[in-house]
Parts: sequence; structure tokens; C-alpha cells
Amino acid sequence: MSADNTYESITEGKLAKNQHEGAYNSLNVIFLAVYGYICLEAVNGRYGLGTMVLLLQYAALIRMPIFSISFIVDQSQRAVANTRDYFAAMDEATESSATEHGGTLEVTRGQVKFTEVVFGYEVKQPVLRGLSFTLEPGTKTALVGESGEGKTTITNLLLGLYVPQNGSIAIDGQDISQVSRASLRAASSVVFQEPALFSGTIYENIAYGRPDASKAEVEAAARAANAHEFISKFEKGYKAEIGERGLKLSGGQKQRIAIARALLKDAPILILDEATSSLDSKSEHLVQEALERLMKGRTTLIIAHRLSTIQSVDTIITLKNGRLEEQGSPDELAQTSGIYAELLRLQQGHTSSAAKRLKRYELQA
Ligand SMILES: Nc1ncnc2c1ncn2[C@@H]1O[C@H](COP(=O)(O)OP(=O)(O)OP(=O)(O)O)[C@@H](O)[C@H]1O
Ligand SMILES: [Mg+2]
Repeated sequence: MSADNTYESITEGKLAKNQHEGAYNSLNVIFLAVYGYICLEAVNGRYGLGTMVLLLQYAALIRMPIFSISFIVDQSQRAVANTRDYFAAMDEATESSATEHGGTLEVTRGQVKFTEVVFGYEVKQPVLRGLSFTLEPGTKTALVGESGEGKTTITNLLLGLYVPQNGSIAIDGQDISQVSRASLRAASSVVFQEPALFSGTIYENIAYGRPDASKAEVEAAARAANAHEFISKFEKGYKAEIGERGLKLSGGQKQRIAIARALLKDAPILILDEATSSLDSKSEHLVQEALERLMKGRTTLIIAHRLSTIQSVDTIITLKNGRLEEQGSPDELAQTSGIYAELLRLQQGHTSSAAKRLKRYELQA
């Protein structure tokens, strides 16, 4: 968060500097022309050398004030624009008031159903063009598609971060656009490849999954996530600060904390964006084991980055051009001529062109 802010202020600063430089450059050009005109008139004999020097000095004297005025005008324009943005942001309705009419989502089995979903971030550029599929309760489903096909978009829609332009998304038969955001968010946990941990203690980061959890529950979640052992080794244990000023955690440790958080939240639907970066085999094993525990009994949607993961799910969904291309078990899809069968063949090929193709799916063999 703070890194983002710094980045934004730096880029904003740069932008402002560029704009200033632009204004100063044009003023400099104008002054150069004025100096040129004064000299030219002297050459033409309108006045003598003394007058020319005097005029040049006057022009130089007036230069600074004019630069200051341009700076002030520039700053006040910026202030006006920023104030407008500020009030526009303050006028935005909060999420809860935006969906106050909505009922509460009641998840009984955890079935997720996309029906003819059409969505694009820009209306003219649809990403999903009528996508339908069902995630059966308690099963694992892998989403497969080239980079940019809309895998992350599907998860964004399921979390209610964006609303489809057409079609519907239902959880246990209830349209998610008709339920309150709070109950929708409570229904799913997300474990992303770059887990979002915030500055604070490890305890706070895990308890974020369910703020009213007891200490024993937080610890139990950490144990189930294979995180308790490494946390105990820190001098301050669960009170150890992480984040920019605190401890730096390894990729595998971060993932296990994110898994502990999701275990604690205990939501019936799980969205998993598998990490692309490979961990060493020991922490890989620990993360995998923790994930298995987390996925048990939940409806899981996995954005897989490993063929081995895809091979171990119940159902594979392949995407092409914003629509469902195929859906079936790994064994079924291995027999067809679809993307998955092709990926399997590529994996066996081990050629450099096969490796390139796999890369387009962001997959590792
Ligand atoms: N916030 C956004 N605003 C506008 N366009 C976006 C936004 N996020 C994604 N897109 C576009 O939507 C399309 C689908 O993106 P998405 O992130 O869902 O792909 P993906 O399948 O997750 O890809 P990857 O495998 O690279 O993560 C892309 O063409 C992308 O450029
Ligand atoms: Mg993505």
C-alpha cells in the first residue's frame, strides 16, 4: 500500500515537473524571441547599442516575475482540479449503502453457476462473451486459458468486484447481484500468488480472516497451514512485525500465512491463484500440504500454473475467446483435441517451441 502511494506520488511529482518544464520551455522560447527582436531592431538602426543593452536588461528583469506568475497560475489550476476530484471521491456511495437493498447470501452447498456471462472492462472490448459453467459443491476446478483470456476477470466477477454486463452469476441459486456485498465476500476466501499481507504482526495478518477469532483458533489455523513452526522460531513469535519495516518473509512463508488466514475464515468457496514462482522442494511440499487441507470440502476454483495441479483436479474448464471451450475431468479432456490435450502433448514434446507454447498459458511442466 505504502509502496503504491510512494510510487504514485513519485509519478505524480514527475508529471508535475514535466508540466512545469513544458511551461518554462515555452516561456524561454518567447524570451529568446524577445531578445532576438531587440537585437534585430538595433541592427536595423532603430536605436543605438546603449538602448539595446538597456532593453535587454529590462527584459531580463521582467523574466523572473513572469515565471513566478506562470507557476502560481499552474498551481492554482492544479488545486482546483484536485479539489474537484476530492469532492467527487467523497460523494461516492459506500459499498454497504450501494447494496443495502440486497438480501443476505446463504451458502448451503457452495455451488457456483455462471450463465451466459458477458463482461468487458471497456464495453467495446468484451473479455467474456457469454460464458457458462458450473462449479459443483466441494469439487476442485482448474481454469485453463492463455494469458489475457480472462481468468482473473472471472474471479473478480465472482467476488463482486465488477458486475457482468449481461448474464448472471449465482451461488446456490442466489444471484450475487441481489445480495449484500458483505455476505458475498464472506462466502469466499482468496489465496493469490502474491499474497496480500499488510504491515502489522503475523497475528493480525492471520486474524484478518476473522477478526473475532480467539488466540487458540489463530494458532490452530497457523498449525494447519504449516506455518506455526516457522512463526515460533521468530523471537517475537506471533507478535513479530512483518512488512516494509519488519521481517522479510520468503514466498513460501507468505503463502502459508495467507493459507492460515483463509483456513481461519473458513469460507465455503475458495479461489486459488497458484504461485508461478517455484519454491524449493521442501517449502513447496509444506505449501502443497497446507493447500490440500484448505481445499478439503470447499468448492475450489484454481488458476493453475502447473500441469501437475491441473492433472489433480476434478474438473478442468478451458477458455477460448471469452467462452467456455471444454469442460470435463482430466481423463476425459486428455482424449479430446482441445487445449488440455494439446498441453499434455507439448509437455511430452520437451522442445523449445513446446516450452514457448506452455509459457503462453503461463504453465510450468
Ligand atoms: N482493470 C482492467 N481494466 C481494463 N482491462 C483489463 C483490466 N484487467 C484486465 N483487463 C483486460 O482484460 C483481459 C483479461 O484479463 P485477465 O487479467 O482476466 O486475464 P488472465 O486470463 O487472468 O491473464 P493472466 O494469465 O496473464 O493472468 C485482458 O485483455 C486485459 O488486458
Ligand atoms: Mg490473471
